[in-house]
Amino acid sequence: MDIRPSGNSIEVTNSSFLKWRSPSRPPMPRSGLGLSNDSIRLNANESPYGPIPEVQQRMVAACSRVNRYPDVAATALRNSLGQHLGIPPSQIIVGSGSSEFIHMLTVAFGGEGAEVVVPTPSFPMYSVSVSYTKATLVSVPINADDGTVDLIAMYKAITDRTSLIFLCNPNNPTGGQISLAKVKAFLQRVPDHVAIALDEAYWELTDAFIDGVETSLALCEQFPNLIILRTFSKFYGLAGLRVGYAIVHNEEIATRLGSIRVPTMPNTIGLEAALACVEFHQFYLQRARDVVVERTRVLQIVKSLGYEPFPSQTNFYCMPFPLGIDPFVKMGIQVRGGDTIQMKDYVRISLGTMDENNLALEVLRKHATSVTSWSSGEGGTK
Ligand SMILES: Cc1ncc(COP(=O)(O)O)c(C=O)c1O
Repeated sequence: MDIRPSGNSIEVTNSSFLKWRSPSRPPMPRSGLGLSNDSIRLNANESPYGPIPEVQQRMVAACSRVNRYPDVAATALRNSLGQHLGIPPSQIIVGSGSSEFIHMLTVAFGGEGAEVVVPTPSFPMYSVSVSYTKATLVSVPINADDGTVDLIAMYKAITDRTSLIFLCNPNNPTGGQISLAKVKAFLQRVPDHVAIALDEAYWELTDAFIDGVETSLALCEQFPNLIILRTFSKFYGLAGLRVGYAIVHNEEIATRLGSIRVPTMPNTIGLEAALACVEFHQFYLQRARDVVVERTRVLQIVKSLGYEPFPSQTNFYCMPFPLGIDPFVKMGIQVRGGDTIQMKDYVRISLGTMDENNLALEVLRKHATSVTSWSSGEGGTK
C-alpha cells in the first residue's frame, strides 16, 4: 500500500513492513498450566525476592508524580549508571527492559535483504523479533557440550548481507558462558558493517562479575559496532517494572535506535526503582553471591542424582528430562519444558528460594533413575 496524497505531508511508504503474523505460540499464561496463582514460578528466571524496603519507598514516592510523563531521556538513571559503571552517560540508553532493545535492533537492522544471525537455542525473542521484519533469520546451533554460543559457527554464518548478530552470554536457556577473551577474539574478526548485540541479561549472576574480573564494557570503545544489553530484571529483581539499558559507543547506532523508539518509555516508577537499586548495589551484590552459592549447591545435588545439567552461570539450570513438565506441575511448580525452549526432552528450571529449589530437587530425585537410565541409552546424548 502506498498512500501519498499529492501536495500534502501524509506519507505511508512502507506499510508492508509490518507483516501480519500469527504467533507460533501464545504468550505464556501468568498462572499457566492450570496451576493456582500461588504455584511456584521456576519458569521465567525471575528473582524470587521483591524489592528491598528502601527501593519500595522510592517507588511509592514516585507514584505521586505519575500524572507527568517520565523523563524519556532517563537523565538521572543514566548519570547514576554512568558513574557506577565508569562510562559516560552519553553511551547509555535506558529502555523498557532489554526486550525493547532487542526489538529496536531488529527493526533498525532488519531491512529487506538483511540477514540477522542468532544462536539456537537461545532467547526466543531474537527470532520472534526478526520475524516481524523483512530480514532473513540465520540460526546457528550452540555448542552442544557446554551450551555456550558457538562463536566459530557464528563467524562462519556471516555474509555480505549480515546486518546484525545476537550473542547471548551467558546463554538462555542453557546457562553457558563464553569467556570475554573469546568474545573479544570474535569481535576482532567481525566485519565493520555488522552490528553485534551482546545480551548480558545474566551478567551480574556470573562468577566473573562476582569475582570482579574485567567486564565487556571497555569493548564498546574498541568495537564501535558493539551494543551491550543489560537489564534490571534479573540481578536487581525488577522484572515487573521493565527497565533495561543498552551501552552504545557508536553515535550512528544510538541515533538509529533513538529514531525508532516509542518516546514515552520507560516509566516513572521503574526509573525511580532502578535508580534506588543502583544506590543499594552492595546489597544486591550480596544477593547475587547468595544465588551463586545456591546454584553451586543445587547443581551439585542434581549431578549427584545422575543428571547432566549444562554448566550454568545464571539463575537457572537446564538438562535432559524427557518426562516433560508434568512431574513438576503435579507438585505445583512451573518450569520450562523443552518444547518452549527449542530443546526437546530438556527442562529449564529457574533458581528460586532454597525451599522452592528443594521442592524441585524432590521431583528430580523421584524420577532420577528413570531419567538417567534414559540418558545413558538411546536419545540421551546432549
Ligand atoms: C537472555 C535474555 N535477554 C533478555 C531478556 C529480557 O529481559 P528484560 O526483562 O530486560 O526485557 C531475557 C529475559 O528472560 C533473557 O533471558
